[in-house]
Amino acid sequence: MEAKKGNEYKKNKETIFSAIQPSGAMTLGNYLGAIKNWSELQENYKCIFALADLHTITVRQNPENFRKNTIELYALLLACGINPEKSLFFIQSHVHTHSELAWILDCYTQFGELSRMTQFKDKSKKYTDNINAGLFSYPALMAADILLYGADLIPVGEDQKQHVELTRNIAQRFNGIYGETFVVPEAFIPKTGARIMSLQNPKSKMSKSELNPNACIFLTDSQDTIIKKFKRAVTDSGTQVKFTPEEKTGINNLMNIYSTFENKTFDEIEKEFEGKGYGVFKTAVAESVIANLLPIQEKFKEYISDKEYLQKKYRQSAITALEISENTLKRAKEKIGFIVN
Ligand code: TYM
Repeated sequence: MEAKKGNEYKKNKETIFSAIQPSGAMTLGNYLGAIKNWSELQENYKCIFALADLHTITVRQNPENFRKNTIELYALLLACGINPEKSLFFIQSHVHTHSELAWILDCYTQFGELSRMTQFKDKSKKYTDNINAGLFSYPALMAADILLYGADLIPVGEDQKQHVELTRNIAQRFNGIYGETFVVPEAFIPKTGARIMSLQNPKSKMSKSELNPNACIFLTDSQDTIIKKFKRAVTDSGTQVKFTPEEKTGINNLMNIYSTFENKTFDEIEKEFEGKGYGVFKTAVAESVIANLLPIQEKFKEYISDKEYLQKKYRQSAITALEISENTLKRAKEKIGFIVN
């Protein structure tokens, strides 16, 4: 199949861009905060998605695991409903314009702005022996990802909102100097599921890098593992399934997960589990998660066994992504005064 030309790609629709790092198996947080929405948005938007593998090397990777994680995540996203016939879905490092615009944007991003990024502060505390320049300038690469495609909306979880805000500032600054060049994007954060917390420490977000294996549900976890992890989920000493907005309790987190999968309000959930206690509720949450993940896990097995198909899809997508992004890069370079050939 011929790659679609950039300008033929779903004309007149708003553009969505988002990405995920292949830094390990996908978590329930990634799924509910971002990926579930991506597949729903494909119906009404021109969607562009990427595996942000250039971002991943800001933390040292084992080469073999890195390759395996990348291909598995590509297959898993297809299993989650990302349809390469409807959306562009490529691997970031296959499209060289990302690194090139990132360097340019580095020169339009202030040291002070990057120093204020929560993720940089957190990661530099966590990886004290490798606080590299890439970890610091990471948001400029993320801005390049977004601005190259003229994206209007960026569906992300709560933790990436600050980076999208910085992207807006960079775009506005550049446009202010050189005239309209970049579309100024907006974060698109889901009402529920935007911040799924750790099952072991509900005050911090669920993250694949957490050391306690019970803290995090992975999309490929077996049914038994999912049940065990939910049974062990940390909750307070209460018994009533009730949402308490100002507190970051484990029960709030479980209600958030259940509400997102079952499409039920917190009021409805409170009524459903009135007088039933935490144990019954935990089992119900686990069963809901299993029922929703099972079809994804089955499709994942099919996709991952067809490497040729995966390769064909990511190669085709990279060609189209390059066509679109080269135009933006060229425009930006001309504005700056580079001799563009
Ligand atoms: P990453 O790979 O850390 O996460 C991918 C997506 O999952 C969301 N997410 C969560 N949502 C709810 N609860 C959680 N516990 C949780 N953990 C993660 C993230 O908000 C994200 O939407 N820098 C990005 C990848 C990226 C990107 C981009 C995103 C690179 N370029 C351009 C948007 C646009 C990242 O590391 O996401």
